[in-house]
Parts: sequence; structure tokens; C-alpha cells
Amino acid sequence: MSTSARRPSVMRPPNLNAVTAPEAALPEDHALVMKVIPMPADANANGDIFGGWVMAQVDLAGSVLAARHAQGRMATVAVNQFIFKQPVRVGDILSLYAKMERIGRTSMTLNVGVYAERIRKQGRYIKVTEATLTYVAIDEEGRPRELPPAARD
Ligand SMILES: CC(C)(COP(=O)(O)OP(=O)(O)OC[C@H]1O[C@@H](n2cnc3c(N)ncnc32)[C@H](O)[C@@H]1OP(=O)(O)O)[C@@H](O)C(=O)NCCC(=O)NCCS
Repeated sequence: MSTSARRPSVMRPPNLNAVTAPEAALPEDHALVMKVIPMPADANANGDIFGGWVMAQVDLAGSVLAARHAQGRMATVAVNQFIFKQPVRVGDILSLYAKMERIGRTSMTLNVGVYAERIRKQGRYIKVTEATLTYVAIDEEGRPRELPPAARD
């Protein structure tokens, strides 16, 4: 027997156990900004999706809406709140919804909600994540710059 055959694998198979979670209504006051499907390579040691992967998707989703207002370079300055309400599973279809909450002089604060359709429950949405993030419009030197007037109207 080879050494690798005797060594226990650190990779777990995807977690397919049922999760009891309430069905959620999709938010009508948010815009659908992204859809994405997590892959086995995005899983953690439990077989669920690694929280850092989810955070990256949420950051991208918020930036989609923020970019419309910034009209140029911007950076994430803060993750004000981040709640993992339910585990994300390999093969879930994730829908990421964003809403502008506040537009300041150089910054924008957005709410992002993530809804999962489990692989065998298409059309039934579970809210898996809720977050609030702040982005700052920056100039070529990376300094805060005023948002274009239209963004602040
Ligand atoms: C974003 C950055 C340029 C802001 O610089 P700064 O010197 O902190 O800027 P200021 O203090 O002038 O604040 C700028 C705006 O951000 C807001 N802000 C700063 N820190 C904040 C925080 N912790 N939470 C919420 N808003 C914040 C300020 O209220 C201000 O908003 P306003 O102009 O709308 O009133 C700087 O912090 C930075 O480069 N951070 C690293 C960004 C990064 O690498 N992100 C990860 C990858 S995108």
C-alpha cells in the first residue's frame, strides 16, 4: 500500500445533509446584481462552502451597484456587518441582491442579501447571508474623491 493510500484525506465530500431553513421572499427593493454557483473547490473541511469565498462574492456584488455611482476607481473601506444565516452548499444557485442604503461625499453604504436555491429545490429560495458594506470612490493616487454629482442627487 502506498503512503498516500494510508493517509486520511483532508478533503471532505460535499455536505448533502438536509438543512431546515424557512423559504424566503426575494427582496423587491433590491437589484439582482449577480448569480454564481459554488464548486467543490470552494468548500471548507465540513463540506460546506468556505465563508471567505462567500464574503468575496458579496464584496463583488456590492461593488456592481457601487460602480454605477462611483463612475471610476473605488475600494471597499468597511464590512459593517456580515451574517452567515445558513450554510451555503456545493451546487447551490446563489442570487445576490444589492440596495444602496446611503450615499455620502465620497462613500457609499450598501446592503447585500444572498439567496440560495438548493440543487434539488429550484425556485425555492433560502436567505443564506446578509451584509452591509461601505465603498469609497478613489482617485488615481488611491485617495478618496468626491462622488459625481448625479450619485449624490
Ligand atoms: C478607502 C481609503 C482610501 C479611505 O481613506 P481614508 O483616509 O480612510 O478616508 P476618509 O477618512 O477621508 O473617509 C472617506 C470616506 O470613507 C468613510 N469611511 C472611512 N472609514 C470608514 C469605516 N470604517 N466605515 C464606514 N465608512 C468609513 C468616511 O466616512 C468617508 O465617507 P464620506 O466622504 O462619504 O463622508 C483607505 O482607507 C484605503 O485605501 N483603504 C484600503 C482599501 C482596500 O484596500 N480595500 C480592500 C480591497 S478593495
